[in-house]
Amino acid sequence: MKLGIIGAGMVGSAAAFSCVMRGAASRIVLVDLNEARARAEAEDIAHAVPFGAAVQIDAGTYADLSGAGVVILACGVSQKPGETRLELLSRNAKVFGTVVAEVTRHAPDAILLVASNPVDIMGQVTQALSGLPKARVIGSGTILDTARFRWLLGRHLGIAPRSVHAYVLGEHGDSEVLAWSAARAGSVSLESFAAQMRSPLTDAARTEIDAGVRRAAYTIIKGKGATWYGIGAGLARIVAAISADEQAVLTVSTVSDVLGVKDVACSLPRVVGREGVSAELMPDLSRPEQEALATSAGLLKDSFDKLGL
Ligand code: LAC
Repeated sequence: MKLGIIGAGMVGSAAAFSCVMRGAASRIVLVDLNEARARAEAEDIAHAVPFGAAVQIDAGTYADLSGAGVVILACGVSQKPGETRLELLSRNAKVFGTVVAEVTRHAPDAILLVASNPVDIMGQVTQALSGLPKARVIGSGTILDTARFRWLLGRHLGIAPRSVHAYVLGEHGDSEVLAWSAARAGSVSLESFAAQMRSPLTDAARTEIDAGVRRAAYTIIKGKGATWYGIGAGLARIVAAISADEQAVLTVSTVSDVLGVKDVACSLPRVVGREGVSAELMPDLSRPEQEALATSAGLLKDSFDKLGL
């Protein structure tokens, strides 16, 4: 499958590198206004191909997107230290007007995978501007937050993150919801697993893990200016699910009705394959988690509506 990536910055390049290392696409085209940057990133990543999968990667223009099955939109400005993702909105909404028109003109059959923050609203902006079916416009959403949650839980429980079955829902941002009550490890409840592993999930441990997930980006941005490896790998995971028609359950963001909030883009567990999102699931949540998810969805909907699209 041919993958287009708009934006050869740190996130787009990390996504390209991750796709090469896991063989998520057979052909990658990197597009950036800074053509020299796109060429340099493509050549640098091409030197990883002998260590990864046989992927052809080149810099190109919008016209080179023709035939792409997926186009990642990783174009736009990044958060400044201390800046929230929602504060980024106006700056990135302007960028997308041109980008979405060019991408849909040259790759009308592609699934659009949005990475630019605030990713939930930028995904809804992309769906509104493109007019594509909702199932074919996917935001990376909380796939990264879910990974952070699983990594921190795995570290606490002493097990591999892939053996932890836990989700982060709602906004990829400050209002996100860690679905503790639905979390499992090794097919048993977190509480039971933690007790059996003699690593109890005390209130202090839960608070530390919650902060570790919710504040991760701010902490990393303070130290190195931006995040890219985690999101790059998360984007590659979504591309792989589409490319291989996995029907994989991933927490990604598409426009749907969530707990009474109509037409809002936020993350739920959704089934992802070649046609994009084919189904969405509502986990069994506690009442406080349900209320927090409804609040998160409402916040995103209000922010999108203010754009007047
Ligand atoms: C983060 C950015 C991708 O959470 O929003 O690291």
